[in-house]
Amino acid sequence: MKRMLHLKPERGWMNDPNGLCFFKGLFHVFYQCNPHGLDWARMHWGHAVSRNLIDWEYCPIALYPDRSYECDEDGGCFSGSAIVVGDRLFLIYTAVGGGKQRVCLAYSDDGVNFKKHDGNPIIENPLFRDFRDPKVFLHDGKYYLVIGAYDKTGKGQILLYSSSNLLEWNYIGPLFAAGKNIGTMLECPDLFFLDGKWVLTFSPVDEGYDGYPAMAVIGDVDFSKPDFLVENIIPLDYGKDFYATQTFMHEDRRIMFAWCGSWPWLPEFNGFDKHDTYTGHLSLPRECHIRDGRFYSKPVMEVEELFNGAGREIEISSERVRLEVVNRLRIEKMLEGKRSGKIEIGISENHRLIIDFRGSNAVFLSMEEGGIKSLSNIPFCKSDKFILEVFYDCDTLEVFINEGEATYTENIGLGESFSPWIRSLEGINLLKIF
Ligand code: FRU
Repeated sequence: MKRMLHLKPERGWMNDPNGLCFFKGLFHVFYQCNPHGLDWARMHWGHAVSRNLIDWEYCPIALYPDRSYECDEDGGCFSGSAIVVGDRLFLIYTAVGGGKQRVCLAYSDDGVNFKKHDGNPIIENPLFRDFRDPKVFLHDGKYYLVIGAYDKTGKGQILLYSSSNLLEWNYIGPLFAAGKNIGTMLECPDLFFLDGKWVLTFSPVDEGYDGYPAMAVIGDVDFSKPDFLVENIIPLDYGKDFYATQTFMHEDRRIMFAWCGSWPWLPEFNGFDKHDTYTGHLSLPRECHIRDGRFYSKPVMEVEELFNGAGREIEISSERVRLEVVNRLRIEKMLEGKRSGKIEIGISENHRLIIDFRGSNAVFLSMEEGGIKSLSNIPFCKSDKFILEVFYDCDTLEVFINEGEATYTENIGLGESFSPWIRSLEGINLLKIF
């Protein structure tokens, strides 16, 4: 059992979270992985389980690319999702073999050993270049799945299928089309009902794309046409290392994980986060909500257990205060009168994050020696309080504004011995450290 703020692979390479579910008393997280090296290569499904979302136990690889339909050198078992039916856990994944991406199924009764369905693939590729990342769910007594596709006419779309038994699937039609500024192909779609709205999330692919790595479309769905009636399109996170999100239900909570990583087509791609024995990690598990048309996400309550109680208050000034390695900071500022403040989190001598808020905007400046590395302008709204919570370890900083109204995730990848610091540049003088 290993306690981890950010779930990492046991060894080798990790990217997308896959097959998230709660099955027979355990949370299951599968993930895209190459157990044989520190770089992306033929994909397997790694697997870890937990009772509380913070103490993790690694399980044997769940899916090996061992069938003819998933044997390409640059293929394997790509992303997908899970669904629990009775005592059985089903994985619906992308198999990449013979140059084709197809939808396949595997199942398990013990949650550890998986058997691939003899009748794979369950959905043949309709001759599309891209056809991957099925996300399955149950709605009104029927199974549905959404999948990212790039069709023959060169159009990126999210397609909707339905089924009564998980094995035979009917194509309903395109649900949402890629377009200007939201990518030519949409990876890792997810569709779910949350707080009275339908939410469609995805990660865009596009050469020269200059938006955020994961987006949410909020509105309503007409399942028969199908059609997504868009009310709002917003980033799921305003940082640059929050990709391929997936959600699942646990009791009445919707929980989301993302890969804290980035591909070369994304803005400010900065290489992969390599360590001696592994590359990559996931975000904190976040509980999601929709409020006033905005997407909220904040760490699940179990994360509190990583910290001892109430924390201690320290005063900050323009002098640097050193922070311990695994840590959490909380800053609360009443926004009476002057609605402004500015702090700097030093990650290393050459890398600093400046958070500058004025009115109802927070500007995050990621600074490197030589200038600004990236800039995010984050709108937040109504409350008369500004609450900033930062969770960090040697891999990643996750910042939550106003209990998850907006978030910012950035990899810092500094190895075990880093020693960050914080100082106030304007208007903030009290800070809680956990
Ligand atoms: C997203 C992605 C998916 C694909 C997987 C392959 O990061 O490109 O579309 O299934 O990674 O590892």
